[in-house]
Amino acid sequence: MGEGCARLPSRTNGIRLSDTSNVRPPIAIDGPAVSGKSSVGKAFASRIGYRFLDTGLMYRAATWNAVQNGVDINDSQSVSAAAESMEFSVTDSDSGDNLIVINGENVTKHLHSIEVDDAVSAVAAVGRVREIMVAEQRRLAGEGEIVMVGRDIGTVVLPDAPLKIYLTATARTRAIRRHKDFIAEGTEVELEVILRSMEQRDLVDSSRENSPLKLADDAVVVDTDDLTFDQVVDRLVDLTEDVL
Ligand code: DC
Repeated sequence: MGEGCARLPSRTNGIRLSDTSNVRPPIAIDGPAVSGKSSVGKAFASRIGYRFLDTGLMYRAATWNAVQNGVDINDSQSVSAAAESMEFSVTDSDSGDNLIVINGENVTKHLHSIEVDDAVSAVAAVGRVREIMVAEQRRLAGEGEIVMVGRDIGTVVLPDAPLKIYLTATARTRAIRRHKDFIAEGTEVELEVILRSMEQRDLVDSSRENSPLKLADDAVVVDTDDLTFDQVVDRLVDLTEDVL
């Protein structure tokens, strides 16, 4: 298998990674598409002095790479082979955003295109792709002090995390948020198109055989429909009081 090397610089508030007795445990955040996991998770991680990893970007990177190489995303063997030979790394920008570099190229800006949105669920459903990504995610979590967001973090990647959060909101609320993001970046897409693409993704993500999106038994559900961004972050910080 090719080297899928993910690296995140540590931000440990003076605690050395080798000093495991002082390293606080990882925190898992899961939820459906556009539930705010990435933006809230990043702000939350910064508030508690943790690193942040958006695992969705890793599946998006595998998808972008497959599409660029002309791989039929419905052919799981070819998708697996493309993921195995992909050299990638995850790093942090100064503002705490994850950056994805594939074969030396920073591809981060391509990863939220509609093209990737429409193909990523199929790629993320491939068992071999998940094995590669989960191995890297567990390695990074082993360094501690990380907020990791995705679909299977509390159920599969970090089942022993002492705090598991499930962020959610109605499909329409989530589509409206994504629509605003597109408008802000100058991309014209109809709200209904976004809603349909997102509902389709939710359906595939929660009904697939490999690590479907589901609520961990011990996860705390945070419904963000009626909360502001800051209120959600405050709520998550409050939840850490019992575990950190
Ligand atoms: O969170 P997101 O929308 O960027 O995720 C992109 C896709 O990756 C989505 O279809 C679900 C999938 N995914 C996954 O299967 N497991 C994860 N841990 C994270 C994302």
